[in-house]
Amino acid sequence: MKTKIISLYPDFQIEKIYPPAQAILAGELVAFPTETVYGLGANAYLSHAIEKVFQVKERPQDNPLIVHLSQLEQLKQIAINIPQEAYILFQAFAPGPLTLILEKNDRLPDIVSSGLSTVAVRFPSNEIAKALIEISGVPIVAPSANLSGRPSPTQAWHVYEDLKGKIPYILDGGKSSYGLESTIVDLTSGKAEILRPGHISAQDIIQKTGIHLMEYNRNKQQVTRPKAPGQKYRHYSPAAKVMILKENPDLKARLADLEKTILFFIKEKRQILLETGQKNVRIALFLSADIAKSFQESNSSKLIQEQAKALVADLFSGQESDFKLEFFMESYDNSKGAAEAAHKLYNKFREFDRKKVDLIVCTAEAQSDSGIAYMNRLGKAAIDEV
Ligand code: TXA
Ligand code: MG
Repeated sequence: MKTKIISLYPDFQIEKIYPPAQAILAGELVAFPTETVYGLGANAYLSHAIEKVFQVKERPQDNPLIVHLSQLEQLKQIAINIPQEAYILFQAFAPGPLTLILEKNDRLPDIVSSGLSTVAVRFPSNEIAKALIEISGVPIVAPSANLSGRPSPTQAWHVYEDLKGKIPYILDGGKSSYGLESTIVDLTSGKAEILRPGHISAQDIIQKTGIHLMEYNRNKQQVTRPKAPGQKYRHYSPAAKVMILKENPDLKARLADLEKTILFFIKEKRQILLETGQKNVRIALFLSADIAKSFQESNSSKLIQEQAKALVADLFSGQESDFKLEFFMESYDNSKGAAEAAHKLYNKFREFDRKKVDLIVCTAEAQSDSGIAYMNRLGKAAIDEV
């Protein structure tokens, strides 16, 4: 199958939406931009189209999908026994990056929700997404448009990288505004609860609506019996190993930690280096601007090089001078919270993957409200096993 990229950015010509909207109606898949990440869309009423979504993404069957709508009136076609809180929340945040879990309307095929009696719903604010839903005239299920386990796509060519030849259309709407998936709030089990943190935080919700949520508990083990099934997988992950550099007000101590982290990785990798004869290890750093600066201004990279060489000296019996660490550094501004870190994260993961790095060290942003979603995705990328 040939995958056509339809360019809708910076000029959005509505007539270009007609062929992909027709494709949605006919049961084909269309990738489209949303304000969070790109979605892989299918007609929510056609089981065979939804089956294709699972196949194309190589997504586990037990991971339900989010239904995307353009008009509040459509909600009743998707959900039943809709609580008042749903209307209050959507009034406050729709269209936008908020997904609600509600009781499912039987009119929707079971495969949408992987057999659960509930359904996830959201109203994207991206103009292209809205037009696609509006013109096709049906609710659209859309998981993120990546291969399962890979970082979610925040640009059209990320989708192309993962899904070329497997879907007929990708709508190019430029870069996603937020870069991380929507906040998911469950309204089906008594007290409203955040299942997946996102740009809209518990605090935003309380401030705007007065609705109190069971706060997302970053320490709660969501791995064994997660309420949002997608949360149990290693996720959002680059091919490289991801390690997190803890926060510490003392910059010097953080630099020392960074050195330790990298050397720990080299030590762990010794066996592989020995077996493969690899003499070039690529280290990516995704650091807040202050640490990036002190890393550059210090002689840290040199120090790490020397210590790494000493660590592997016996492996290369005298030829360790050929052994080299290569650094790739990217930084973000955290003076106003973690929004920029969140926005860049997936994009940088993909960039680092293309550079075939062995390790990615990322700085933690656990202090701010906006850091909760960033830390959640980082934590999942850093899990060792699938
Ligand atoms: O921002 C987003 O939400 C993006 C864009 C494309 O809209 N979509 C997205 O979809 O992130 P996906 O499929 O990658 O993640 C959907 C998450 C999964 O963790 C899934 O388990 C959860 O939503 N989910 C879907 N239906 C659910 C349900 N009925 N109950 C609990 N969790 C559900
Ligand atoms: Mg996803």
